[in-house]
Amino acid sequence: MRVVRTIEQLREAVGFMRDAGLGPVGLVPTMGYLHDGHASLLRRAGEMCGTVVMSIFVNPIQFGPNEDYEAYPRDERRDLELAEREGVDIVFIPAVEVMYPREIRSKIVVSSLTTRLCGASRPGHFDGVTTVVAKLFNLVQPDYAFFGLKDAQQVAVLRQMVDDLNMNVKIVPCPIVREGDGLALSSRNVYLSAEERRQALVLSRSLREARTAVEEGRAATTGEVRELLTGVISGSPLADIDYAEILTFPELEPLEGNFPLIEAEGEIIMALAVRFGRTRLIDNIIFTPK
Ligand code: PAJ
Repeated sequence: MRVVRTIEQLREAVGFMRDAGLGPVGLVPTMGYLHDGHASLLRRAGEMCGTVVMSIFVNPIQFGPNEDYEAYPRDERRDLELAEREGVDIVFIPAVEVMYPREIRSKIVVSSLTTRLCGASRPGHFDGVTTVVAKLFNLVQPDYAFFGLKDAQQVAVLRQMVDDLNMNVKIVPCPIVREGDGLALSSRNVYLSAEERRQALVLSRSLREARTAVEEGRAATTGEVRELLTGVISGSPLADIDYAEILTFPELEPLEGNFPLIEAEGEIIMALAVRFGRTRLIDNIIFTPK
């Protein structure tokens, strides 16, 4: 495994692997503090690609002024151990000055999709994500790039960017990895107190219950589903709901409150963002109502 920290080293290392003719190059972008969710992307990349490149970069331009950029958890040594175990070939760990040597004046902005869900509560967040991912695509020129559906809106936005701009890379969406009790793995889970951690189970539980209610015909409309979701979540006194929404996926078009879900064409997403103290957690479920 090679650990590279500059643009020149990265290009040289990827070029070397490409010239060796080992097959497709896969990229797994991360912000580090790796867990089994990240590891699942690395494994998928390993199955599909001859060379796996992972980036670890806490990207300042995707954090809002009152968000947790400084506090975001970091542990390079542990991350490198995990990368080594998962068979990563090249780890790119740039300093902020390497990615942004001067003020960045060019940004990638995906419209419409980015105004909903997390885009509404985190203005500018997705511009930061698309911009850094486009830079990583230009640097690595991967054949495949792997992203988790834990951040389903991020997947939808990046797919739109790649399609709109004819980027020569295939986005591979990967399923959400959860703890045994249902909590979606997240680097931010370390912020939770023991009591918050217990109550955070309402995210996955409310989504499971809502899906079952739709499938058993007990909730027919988006209005009823939203009520069910918010009802279950409000049962946890520490939970403060940011949003609970039902949209089409991947278009992220809103469905009217009395829209019968059974009539939705294709997949729908039930998406949640809930705060526990200073920690904001997200979760979602994507399925075809039948
Ligand atoms: P980060 O939060 O570190 O996540 C890196 C990748 O891991 C993302 O594609 C995310 O969806 C995936 N991931 C996180 N938790 C997961 C889980 N429980 N199951 C499956 N996949 C999971 O997302 C980012 O970083 C950044 O926005 C980034 C794309 C790196 C751009 O800066």
